[in-house]
Amino acid sequence: MNLTWKPDKISKIPAYIQIIDYVKSKIESGEWCIGDKIPPQRELAEQFLVNRSTVVSAINELIAGGMLEGRGCKGTVIINNTWSLLTSRSYGYWNSYIEGGLHMPNQQMIRDIVRIKHSKDIVRLGTGELSPALYPKERISEIIKNALPKINSLGYEEPKGMLHLRIQVSHYLKGIGVNVSPDCIMIVSGGIQALQLIAMGILPKDTNIYLEEPSYMFSLNILQSTGMSMVGLNMDNEGLVINELIKSSNVKGNSMLYTIPTFHNPTGILMSEQRRKDLMNANQQFRIPIIEDDIYREIWFDEPPPKPLKSLDNNGDVLYIGSISKTLSSGMRIGWIVGPEQVINRLADIKMQTDYGASSFSQWIVAECMVSGFYNEYTGEIRAELRKRRDICLECLERYFKNIATWNVPKGGYYIWLKVEKNIAIKEIFNRALDKGILLKPGNVYQRKDNKYLRISYSYANLNELEDSLKKLADVIKVSN
Ligand SMILES: Cc1ncc(COP(=O)(O)O)c(C=O)c1O
Repeated sequence: MNLTWKPDKISKIPAYIQIIDYVKSKIESGEWCIGDKIPPQRELAEQFLVNRSTVVSAINELIAGGMLEGRGCKGTVIINNTWSLLTSRSYGYWNSYIEGGLHMPNQQMIRDIVRIKHSKDIVRLGTGELSPALYPKERISEIIKNALPKINSLGYEEPKGMLHLRIQVSHYLKGIGVNVSPDCIMIVSGGIQALQLIAMGILPKDTNIYLEEPSYMFSLNILQSTGMSMVGLNMDNEGLVINELIKSSNVKGNSMLYTIPTFHNPTGILMSEQRRKDLMNANQQFRIPIIEDDIYREIWFDEPPPKPLKSLDNNGDVLYIGSISKTLSSGMRIGWIVGPEQVINRLADIKMQTDYGASSFSQWIVAECMVSGFYNEYTGEIRAELRKRRDICLECLERYFKNIATWNVPKGGYYIWLKVEKNIAIKEIFNRALDKGILLKPGNVYQRKDNKYLRISYSYANLNELEDSLKKLADVIKVSN
């Protein structure tokens, strides 16, 4: 597309509306056709001599209006040229602000999934959450009943979170080889907030974040929104390939490694003990801070995973993240960060400025779950349950997917990383499965490279649903071409 036009800077019509009108006029005149790709936002901003946020507002408006479609790394494409859409003017006052803020919006695919997932009669085959059927209703009621007389206040807690809970977390951490005092632990509103605080609080703007590719982190815009670049590294069946990190870390500038060594999301890969040692040894030389996201640690099936990287950390290089979201409750919003005290103090200060602390009620309840031994006991039950579910999935895959896909056998965690071997766009599989009432998680949410993957989760749907939906999914893949 050859663009020489620019918005009129002295016009009273906001630049983003002029851009919308310009794009519409191009489509209306037939110069731009359905299927054509719109140039990247940065290029348009340079061409139109406007801020990128102005272009983003215009494009989002056109997407919301059904003219364009964002296709992730494939760009934004014209999908409609109906006259009624071209003549509609739905933009309101807020549209110039929405999504123009510092924080980038979620990928369109994720927004669609979030919108659809609470619909009735949908089987959620990609959701990374514990099934509501596993919620221990009576026992949680009992825990709350026991905790209530102990609660003296539900006011703000101290910046690092309730000491009583931090002491319980420090006992738990000791059991996995991490010996730290409660001063080096901060309670956060889930693991995701830990990532947010680290991104906002301690990483300079131009930091290169090295991370496994694929990774859960690619499904978020936390790092990009604060100006960081992500550098994807390959994995093998023992985890992150360290040589790649060593090669990449020669690049000048601030660097940090983000890794999910234990039952990685989305691949389920477990970093071996040797790889953990090798990584920590290698880091003695290049000394970059490491964020260890360990929130699937307790979901092991045959034997406990190797100790965390944090347990091998003699230099204070590792910031360790844990959470109860995958073991007990994602909605209580309780997690923790562990690190050198001065880093934790800095993050706690930002947390105070952000939300004045995680819910004090949740902190009391989680502390009670831990003190009473219930947390430990329930985690054991969840392991057994999820193992059953994993096995059913693996049986179904053997039965229905033999010639159409390949997959890993996870030793823990929630996920099977399914590679579709037929030459079909994953988006098409997603749409066809949705027509049959199955909501999937396409793999390209977790990696930038073109891919053929689906993240199958066995944690959410019930056993019958798992079996039935996997059979239907196999049929969808078989008939697609
Ligand atoms: C690797 C990883 N880290 C962090 C999170 C977010 O956890 P939380 O619910 O504790 O914020 C998730 C959620 O799926 C995850 O998979």
